[in-house]
Order: sequence, then C-alpha cells, then structure tokens
Amino acid sequence: MTDSVAPRKRILTGDRPTGRLHLGHYVGSLAKRVELQYQYDTILIIADLHMLTTRPSRDDIAEICENCRGLVLDYLAAGIDPDHVTIYLQSAVPETYELNLIFEMLVTVNRLSRIPSIKDMARAANLSDEEIPFGLLGYPVLQAADILLPRAHLVPVGKDNESHVELTREIARRFNALYGEVFPIPEVLVGDVPTLVGTDGKDKMSKSLGNCIFLCDDEQTVNKKVRGMFTDPKRISADIPGTVEGNPVFIYHDTFNPNKAEVEELKARYRAGRVGDVEVKEKLARALNNFLAPMRARYAKYQADTGLVDEIIVRGTQRMRAIAAETIHAVRSAMGLASTWNRLQRAAERRQKKLHPTLPTGDLS
Ligand code: TRP
Repeated sequence: MTDSVAPRKRILTGDRPTGRLHLGHYVGSLAKRVELQYQYDTILIIADLHMLTTRPSRDDIAEICENCRGLVLDYLAAGIDPDHVTIYLQSAVPETYELNLIFEMLVTVNRLSRIPSIKDMARAANLSDEEIPFGLLGYPVLQAADILLPRAHLVPVGKDNESHVELTREIARRFNALYGEVFPIPEVLVGDVPTLVGTDGKDKMSKSLGNCIFLCDDEQTVNKKVRGMFTDPKRISADIPGTVEGNPVFIYHDTFNPNKAEVEELKARYRAGRVGDVEVKEKLARALNNFLAPMRARYAKYQADTGLVDEIIVRGTQRMRAIAAETIHAVRSAMGLASTWNRLQRAAERRQKKLHPTLPTGDLS
C-alpha cells in the first residue's frame, strides 16, 4: 500500500475510546465504513485526545488503553478488514496537535459557541456553561485537524457529528483561501438509520442512558434485553390492538430482521390485537442474534490471537505518522512558516562558517 500509486479517495473517521460499540453505532455509521472500506483508502482514528476534553484525569487516561483494544475488536467484529484499513492512535501522532493549533486561528469563538453538540457534551459530563474548558469548545477544531491531516475526502459519522464536519469544511476553505489549495473539502456521510431508539424507547441508544445492545453482547444477554424492551404501553394484554409506528420493538424489526414477510405479518397481527408481546420479542431476539452471529465468530477469531489488536494499532499509527508528516510539510510550506525557519538556519550556518571555516557544518541543520 504505497500512497503515491493509490488513486483512491480517502476516508477518515473514528470514535473516542469511551466503551464498547452498540447497534446504534453500527447502523449510524459503522455499516457505511465496512461497506466502503475497499472503495476508499480508509483510516480509522482512535480519538483518545478528544476524551481529554471532558475526562482529563490520570484514571481516565489509564482506562484508555483497555478501551482502545475493545474499540478495535468491535471494528474487526463489525467486519473492518485489518489488512486494508489503517487504524491509529490519535495521541501518538504529534502533527495532530500542530494542525489543531493552526486551525484554531481560522475559526471564531462565536462560531464554536453556536455548535449545540458542545453544550450537549458538557451537560453529559455534568459541566455548567461556566465550566466548559477551552479544549471542549475546541473539540470540533481538533476533529477538523484529524480529518484534514490525512486530507480525507469523505467522513462517515453519526448524526451528532454532522456539524463538526460542516465546520471542518469551513476551516479547509478558509485555509485554502489564505494559503493555497492544500486540503480537499470533505463530504459527510451519515448512516441509513441516523439515530436508533434505545431499548427503553428513549430517542437515542446511548451508553450513558443504559439502553444499549452492544455488538459484543452474547445470546443470553440479547434475549434478556429484548424481553425487557419498551413497547406500546397501552397494550396491557395480547388482545388489545397495538401501535406499530414509533414502537421500538418494531423499529428494531424493520432495521435488523431481514425477513420482511415475517415483520409485515407480525405488524398486521399486532394492530389487530392477535399477537402477544412475547412472540414479537422472541422473533426479534432471534433476528438480532442472527445479525450478530458473524460478529461473534469474528470476536472469537480475533480474540484468540493475542497481541494482534495491538499490532494493528501500532502498524496503523506508523503509516499515519508518515501521512501526517507529508501534510504538515505542505501546510508549513503553504503558510511560509518553513521559509522563516529555513532563512534563520541558513544565516546561522553562514555565521558559523565564517567563525570556524574548517569545521564541518551540521549541528545547525
Ligand atoms: N467526535 C467523534 C465521536 O463522537 C470522534 C472523532 C474524533 C472523529 N475525531 C474524528 C470522528 C474525526 C470522525 C472524524 O466520538
């Protein structure tokens, strides 16, 4: 995989290593990444620096390492092919910090404070408006650095990240207008089910709400979670006609049960009050377990290979470092920062040559 001969367009996307991935992640973004992985040069970021925006303690950082492994296992189980996709650790690519600083000059505080996801993240972390760190306000700027560091063309993300890609486009345009065409203007791609309801009927499946079915859940866990799912609350017995629209059990059937005839037949009987919740849920649990079966096989395969996940991250990070160095070189040249440094160096060398004509140069370059 040499970059100079790769005409493919590039994807950059990824996740914070906060915990395991769930069905909402899968239909919201992961499925698209799997689908496009051979068509695009795909790079997945483990965004551990972004975690620091709300969780900077040493204990939080100590958790990251294990979470990274879990995240990468989830990618592999979901069908990401480690022989074709680059997976890297954000904090191990120093050019990220550098590009972030440069981009900080190209965006106003006012623009950032209008991005609703920042307030949402603050609320989730129990921070009042006054307690929002500078770095959390800059969360989407750091994300723009991630996306533009490999000069990505496409960003498959969940709906909650759409506004960050919009900001990235603005930053890329502004950079290019000021300094010349260095960056492509990346497109956002949201999954087929932008937000999946939780098992409790709340609008969003989310770890903090405790309403998730995780990709790594085993069969018994899935059965149990489905049995406990929220459904039409007005339907206290099986002979009462029920509502299908907006009912999480049927939303999951529509999303994960490939047997459309079975789903339509269940809906008809549900509306007529001729089916019990138990049957509807049993069929859903079966569909979900079928859906997760190939992932379980891949978990078993990859988990058995000790050190494989670590090796994937290390190799991916090495490749990303090479890509990042190229971009930063282009950025510094475009901005004229490189020539400031080069001029200083040449002048310093000339002075040393004059003072010590016989000594070899080198220590100033
Ligand atoms: N913001 C993403 C999340 O919600 C994580 C992330 C960081 C990201 N950098 C990125 C996603 C770049 C896509 C592209 O977890």
